Amino acid sequence: MVNIAVCGANGKMGKAVVKAVSEAEDMSLVAQIDILNGEFATIKDAKNSVNIDILVDFTQPDSIYENALYCLNNDIKLVIGTTGLTDSQVEELRTLSQKRKVACFIAPNFSTGAVLLMKFAQMAAKYFDNAEIIELHHNQKKDAPSGTAIKTAQMMSENGENFTNGNCPEKEIIKGARGCNSYNNIHIHSVRMPGYMASQEVLFGSDGQILSLRHDSTNRECYMPGVLMAIRHIANSDEFVYGLDKIMN
Ligand SMILES: NC(=O)c1ccc[n+]([C@@H]2O[C@H](COP(=O)([O-])OP(=O)(O)OC[C@H]3O[C@@H](n4cnc5c(N)ncnc54)[C@H](O)[C@@H]3O)[C@@H](O)[C@H]2O)c1
Repeated sequence: MVNIAVCGANGKMGKAVVKAVSEAEDMSLVAQIDILNGEFATIKDAKNSVNIDILVDFTQPDSIYENALYCLNNDIKLVIGTTGLTDSQVEELRTLSQKRKVACFIAPNFSTGAVLLMKFAQMAAKYFDNAEIIELHHNQKKDAPSGTAIKTAQMMSENGENFTNGNCPEKEIIKGARGCNSYNNIHIHSVRMPGYMASQEVLFGSDGQILSLRHDSTNRECYMPGVLMAIRHIANSDEFVYGLDKIMN
């Protein structure tokens, strides 16, 4: 039995994780941590009262780095769903996790369908010189572009492909019209409005053809198989893993 603490337990994702962990036969939910009316207000309070093997964090971009440092420095394995970590913070966590031999699993997206979209986009990237990403989320999302869009762009550019080729010189009449220019010139456009939960479309274009890959999350249950997969993956390891794609073969 693995002892699990959920940080951000009263949030939208946290509640779904609490339910999924409670229903998993090989896991025991030992702490629900949340600064707003949690069973424990901080990870430190929880650690002083219960034995935590793995902490699952779905809090907010402002807290995740400090939470992660605390866990890794106190021998608590980590599954991070919270988005907003910078590239350099991810690298610092990788170094710390490997140095202290405390497992850390970071996934900007735990939905298996979204991860497959990323993999398909990576495959398609080889065959197109033009690609743009449109990500659409609810309007309470704090960070933009989404962690999924950033990770998708990273994967599409991993083999050195460059995008937005052959365009005429462009002038933005209103700043931001062309979205942000991310890895290897992949433009990312972020839409925020009620009605959406989490969707992403990747458009590939070349002369005479458009390939459109799209994934829509319609409720938060879609993330739970991936979260449980990550917990089980690190339960008996001290690995650092970035991306659910690394364990979806
Ligand atoms: N990786 C994924 O698949 C995935 C999917 C959906 C959302 N997310 C990310 O998960 C995070 C949470 O999303 P949400 O929609 O559940 O947000 P939310 O605002 O509904 O919940 C966040 C919860 O964390 C609590 N909290 C904030 N700081 C805290 C701290 N330092 N310690 C303890 N509790 C703290 C808040 O009180 C709140 O209850 C966001 O970063 C979001 O982008 C990731």
